[in-house]
Amino acid sequence: MATNVRALAAKCTYAVIDKGRSLADELPALQEKVIGKDKGLLQELCYGVLRYLPELEHEVRQLIQKPLVAKQRAVHFLLLVGIYQIKYTRIPDHAAVSETVAATKPLKHQHLKALVNGILRNFQRKTTDNDEKLPVAIQYNHPSWFIKKIQNAYPDDWPAVLNANQEKPPMWLRVNQQHHTIEQYLELLAKADIEVASVDEFSGAIKLAQATDVNNLPGFELGHVSVQDGAAQQAAVLLDCQPHDNVLDCCAAPGGKTCHILELRPSINAMTAIDIEEKRLLRVKDNLARLNLSANVIAADASKPELWWDKQAYDRILLDAPCSGTGVIRRHPDIKWLRKSTDIEALTILQQQILKNIWPLLKPGGTLLYVTCSILPEENCEQIQQFISKNSDAELIAIDNTQQKIGWQILPNEQSMDGFYYAKLKKKNNG
Ligand SMILES: C[S@@+](CC[C@H](N)C(=O)[O-])C[C@H]1O[C@@H](n2cnc3c(N)ncnc32)[C@H](O)[C@@H]1O
Repeated sequence: MATNVRALAAKCTYAVIDKGRSLADELPALQEKVIGKDKGLLQELCYGVLRYLPELEHEVRQLIQKPLVAKQRAVHFLLLVGIYQIKYTRIPDHAAVSETVAATKPLKHQHLKALVNGILRNFQRKTTDNDEKLPVAIQYNHPSWFIKKIQNAYPDDWPAVLNANQEKPPMWLRVNQQHHTIEQYLELLAKADIEVASVDEFSGAIKLAQATDVNNLPGFELGHVSVQDGAAQQAAVLLDCQPHDNVLDCCAAPGGKTCHILELRPSINAMTAIDIEEKRLLRVKDNLARLNLSANVIAADASKPELWWDKQAYDRILLDAPCSGTGVIRRHPDIKWLRKSTDIEALTILQQQILKNIWPLLKPGGTLLYVTCSILPEENCEQIQQFISKNSDAELIAIDNTQQKIGWQILPNEQSMDGFYYAKLKKKNNG
């Protein structure tokens, strides 16, 4: 019997929401169970339910007489999958309903078939929404605590930021400039009939008009190109490594920025790439191998350099700090539900600790680039402001392309890039 994609989507979203598992941990194994286009459909259904969760939950609450009990939760998620398809996909309603109803069997809840069928048909028949004013968490499909933080941080832009988080992100490419200039690679894309939407002036990041399989990209296997968001591609350019520099990337996995730095400046003396998670470092090694680059890869805790540092000071340090990931919600919609308001303070303390303990490893005159994929000021400009106020040898270097006072906050509604924060710090020579 063919595997039912709706049943897998219900299992996946159930695991994320009720069991607190990450989408990245759950989805790939489930995708292995299906073939061809169903892999994409499964992804679309899981992402869709997580993007629109509050709204879909609201619809189910209106249509169900009493909530399903704990052991029927997988069917609750199946209802969300069903409503998502009817509301947001081009799947014909009859197919969406019949496939979703059929999923009760592999979920071993066939006795709820009539209930699922009835609810989905009632939803289909529902013509207009009640005029009731929905709570902002349902209107914008984000948790209330997060909406409040974004409203405080961006009083004018908060609706645009939240709406951008709901969008499907574009595919961005990073050209390996060891092999091709940006212009040469654009020609190869044109020959391969891959349409380009835009090119970022500062970094040369290429935004495709439509996502494509990496195997369609000219020279992907040969390491001539990588997939990396436009915001992440600013890091290596801003770090601006010079020939013979000793470089440290102290939160490196999976290695996107490590590789970009090496591609842009192969003449550096040495790159040390560390990460606390040994398993994630395998991806750094894979990426280095695919791109034919080399680095000294170490599993270590950046906040405890006394355990791994060889006392050779660095000219450049990239600190791509562990963060809330609130800038990359459009790529990882599970972040909205897995991240709790109480996590933020713990993360800011960890960032502060790493920054404080890694700073002495930087040579006088050297540069440290602090990066997060967060849009929360407490992890970003407030963190840096506090650091500068406590460290008289730290000088903030203005980033040319921004008018912002403390670092550069890219919001996800700007230039179709992920939400990122950059601050460039120089260690004073006489510090
Ligand atoms: C934002 S990710 C880095 C992404 C990476 N720079 C890239 O471009 O591919 C943050 C990384 O910090 C690592 N990390 C968290 N705490 C750490 C610590 N105390 N020391 C070193 N790495 C840490 C995490 O395992 C995670 O891989």
